[in-house]
Amino acid sequence: MSALFSPLRIGQLDFSNRVFVAPMCQYSGVDGLPSDWHCQHYGSLAVGGAGAITLEATAVAPEGRITNGCLGLWNDAQASALAQLINSLRRLSPTRLGIQLSHAGRKASCHPPWAGGEALAQGGWPIVAPSAIAFGPNRSLPSAMTEADFEQISQAFEDGARRALRAGFDYLELHLAHGYLLSSFLSPLANCRGDRYGGPLSNRMRFPLEVVSKVRAVWPDSKPLGVRVNAHDWCDGGAGFEDTLALCHALKSAGVDFVCVSAGAVVDGTRISATPGYLFEYARRVREATGMVTRAVGLIHDSQLAEQALCDGVADCVAVARAMLFDPRWALKAAYLLGEGARFPPQMMLASPERWPGA
Ligand code: FNR
Repeated sequence: MSALFSPLRIGQLDFSNRVFVAPMCQYSGVDGLPSDWHCQHYGSLAVGGAGAITLEATAVAPEGRITNGCLGLWNDAQASALAQLINSLRRLSPTRLGIQLSHAGRKASCHPPWAGGEALAQGGWPIVAPSAIAFGPNRSLPSAMTEADFEQISQAFEDGARRALRAGFDYLELHLAHGYLLSSFLSPLANCRGDRYGGPLSNRMRFPLEVVSKVRAVWPDSKPLGVRVNAHDWCDGGAGFEDTLALCHALKSAGVDFVCVSAGAVVDGTRISATPGYLFEYARRVREATGMVTRAVGLIHDSQLAEQALCDGVADCVAVARAMLFDPRWALKAAYLLGEGARFPPQMMLASPERWPGA
C-alpha cells in the first residue's frame, strides 16, 4: 500500500488517506455565509478522493475578516449555513471535514486579491493588531490591542469553536500562520509591545496560547485540534525557526493534536523562493522534535513527491492547495498513479484508466 493512501489516525479520529485539501479562502461569502460558489467548490473537492478537506479561513469576528467576502462563525446563522453545507458534503463522500478559524488582525478590511488586495477605502472597518504598525503601505493602520480586545477576541475564538462543533465539523484548525492576528503576535516585526504580550518569545506566544487553551477547553478530545504555523518569518529581525520549534512544543503541551508547517507573508513584500517541497525540512524537524502529527505543505503538486515525503518521514500527511483548484480530483488521480487502483466513486467508474487499457 502506498504511504499516501494508508489510513491515518489523529487523536481518536481516523482518516482514510493522508491527502488534505489545504484551507483556501474563496472570498465569495455574503455576510459571512457560504454561497452557491462554496457548494459547488467544496462539492467538487468532496468527490475528489482526499482524506480531508479543511474549509477556508473563517473569521471569528466581523472585524477579523480579510475581506467582505470571507466566511464567518460569529453568529448562529453562519453556523447553521455551514452545517447545511457540510451535511450535503457528507451525503457525497466520507471525506473528513474541518474548518480553519482565524482573525485577520492587521491584514483585515481589504479588497479581495482579484481586486488588488489593498485596504478598503470605503466600507472598511477599524482593525486591531499587537502594535499600531500597518502591514504595508497600502494597508490600514491598526490600533494596538487593549485588555478588552484580548478578552473579546479570545472569547470570539471560543465561541467560534463551539459553533464549529455544533455545525458538525470533524476537526478544527487554528490559523497561527501567514501574518494574521495570532501569527503577528509571534513576530517581533509586528509585535513591539512592552507588556506581557510582547518582547521575549514566551510573551509573544502568550496570546496565541491563551486562544489555543480556550478553544481546546470547548473542542472535545474526541476531535482533533490542529494549528497552522509559519516555519519562520523569512525576514531579518523576524521570528526564526527555533521560535517555531518552541511554539510547537508549547502547542503540544496545550493539547494540540497536529501541526501544519506553512509559510507566508508576515511582513509586506517578503519574497520566498518556493520550489516543490521547499518546506519539507521544517516539517521534518518539527515532527522529529515534537513527535506531533505533522502536515507538510508547499508546492506538493506531484503525487510521487507527496509519497516520497511520507516515506522519508518528512510528515504524516500533506496539504495540497493550488493543485486542487486546478484539479479537484487530484487525490483520485494520485491514488491511481501510485498503484492504489482506481478509488473512484461508482459514478466515475467508467472513467477509470483500468477500464480503458492503453488509453
Ligand atoms: C491559500 N492559503 C491559505 N492558507 C490558510 O492557512 N488559510 C486560507 O484560508 C488560505 N487561503 C488561500 C487561498 C488561495 C486561493 C490559495 C491559493 C492559498 C494558502 C494555502 O493553504 C497553501 O498553504 C499554499 O497555497 C501553499 O500550498 P500549494 O498551493 O503550494 O499547494
